Amino acid sequence: MKIIIVGASGTMGKHLAAAFEKEHEIVTAATRGCDVQVDITSPSSIENMYKQAGAFDALISTAGPTFVGPWEKLTDKAFRQGVEGKMMGQINLVLIGQHYINPKGSFTLITGALSHDPQKNFANASAANGAVESFVKAAAIELENGIRINAVSPTVIENSPQYFPYFPGDIPVTMQQLEFAFRKSVFGSNTGQIIKPY
Ligand SMILES: NC(=O)c1ccc[n+]([C@@H]2O[C@H](COP(=O)([O-])OP(=O)(O)OC[C@H]3O[C@@H](n4cnc5c(N)ncnc54)[C@H](OP(=O)(O)O)[C@@H]3O)[C@@H](O)[C@H]2O)c1
Repeated sequence: MKIIIVGASGTMGKHLAAAFEKEHEIVTAATRGCDVQVDITSPSSIENMYKQAGAFDALISTAGPTFVGPWEKLTDKAFRQGVEGKMMGQINLVLIGQHYINPKGSFTLITGALSHDPQKNFANASAANGAVESFVKAAAIELENGIRINAVSPTVIENSPQYFPYFPGDIPVTMQQLEFAFRKSVFGSNTGQIIKPY
């Protein structure tokens, strides 16, 4: 299977690329330092990425920039980081990517438990996650040619200890749990699902 991983240089993306490259052809993408350069806040950059990558079977996104910080600093401008990044960036990966993906292919987007379990400093991510999760359910009944779409929605993950203090009471998701949630989406048959790896 040919799999594009957007966000492949990040904490989640690096793990997934290493896990899947043993059995699949992986195209890594991020703003820098990957096989293909892409800025998901730019539709033309996304289009260029798909043109460079060529036809593919699965798109995994672990790229979802948002504003993280205190409520007092959450301005209109700050909030748009998540709107243009995690929300529209990932939605455009699908809207544009549907014209390049092979029949029976799949899209797997990243959201997070903040959509239904908010924590302080993360209102922007909560809102973006909720929008992406609703989009996934809607897109699942629209996409043609057997193309599937799911979101993976973890709480804080074990390789991000810097976030542990912001998620009191949450048991961190292991990298194996995270990986297997993505496996369920990419190699399984479900669509329109919000997959919680915990
Ligand atoms: N870490 C956690 O505990 C956790 C838990 C639940 C949900 N999440 C969500 O999961 C996502 C990934 O988390 P992570 O910890 O793996 O993040 P990360 O380590 O910061 O990695 C983010 C990746 O996305 C890429 N990226 C960022 N902005 C981009 C843009 N505009 N265009 C293209 N690529 C872009 C980065 O590449 P460049 O550096 O080249 O920009 C990097 O490869 C985030 O949306 C986060 O909210 C994280």
